[in-house]
Order: sequence, then structure tokens, then C-alpha cells
Amino acid sequence: MAVEQTFSIIKPDATRRNLTGKINAKFEEAGLRIVAQKRVQLSKQQAEKFYEVHAARPFYGDLVAFMTSGPVVVQILEGENAVARNREIMGATNPANADAGTIRKEFAESIEANSVHGSDSLENAKIEIAYFFAGTEIVG
Ligand code: PPS
Repeated sequence: MAVEQTFSIIKPDATRRNLTGKINAKFEEAGLRIVAQKRVQLSKQQAEKFYEVHAARPFYGDLVAFMTSGPVVVQILEGENAVARNREIMGATNPANADAGTIRKEFAESIEANSVHGSDSLENAKIEIAYFFAGTEIVG
């Protein structure tokens, strides 16, 4: 298995409830290292561009409004098989379908307020990392 980097967002529902540390503990307990991290307020334009792939979906406007409703923590997680590993740790998009022990099962409020985002492929991880981080901000 290769060491990979994946992109993660701790979403506004989680920052609002002061869950950043608890969520980060889940990543670290699973063997992922947080090699870059910053708390930011997304603009409408930034969120629209980030979620552009979902622009035709009925929830797009709600998703952009939610992701700009408060601060988020953008981060890079590194480890063996990090993209897939992070998807396992997060659990299913809808917390109602998430496995016990996953972040979304423990913390998510709904399919929209689902606490975390994680890249769905290595290719997208590279694009998403470059969208938020300069090379000088990543310390492995
Ligand atoms: S995935 O992983 O792309 O297949 O997941 P998907 O179900 O397509 O969802 C993509 C993102 O949209 C969010 N989402 C929603 N937001 C608001 N309302 C509704 N109904 C809804 N359904 C899905 C979901 O949380 C995903 O966000 P990210 O940040 O990509 O995880």
C-alpha cells in the first residue's frame, strides 16, 4: 500500500459544536497524520467552485449555503491508503446509513450537516489540496 495524501474538511456543523479536536482524534487514532490544517470562512464563490461537480443537483444551493454558514477546517491527511481509509473513518454520506464508530455516525446531524468531507479519489485529492493549500503550507 502506498502513502497518500487526501483532502478533508471539518464542516460548519462540527466547528459550531466545537468538535474539531474529537474529529481529529478519530483521524489520528486511525493512523492518519494531519500534515496541514487551517480554519477558514469559505466565500460563496469558493464553495460554489469547490462543489461545481454537483451544480446540477437539487441540493447544490443548500449545500453552498450550509458550507458558508460558519467556519470550516480544511486539512490534509497523510497515511497508507489515505483516500480510502478516510472514507471508511468518515462513514456513509447519510449518517442514517453510517457504520458504528464512524465520524458521521457519532457526530453528523443530517445528510447536509454531515460534519466532514473527504476526497473520493486520489486524483480529486490532488485537485482539492491544490485549491486550498500552497506547497509551503504542507509539512509532512
Ligand atoms: S458522493 O460522495 O459525492 O457520492 O456523495 P453525494 O451523495 O453525491 O453528496 C455529495 C455532497 O453533497 C452533500 N449532499 C447534500 N447536501 C445537502 N442536501 C442534500 N440532500 C444532500 N445530499 C448530499 C453531501 O454531504 C456531499 O458533501 P461532501 O462535502 O462532498 O461530502
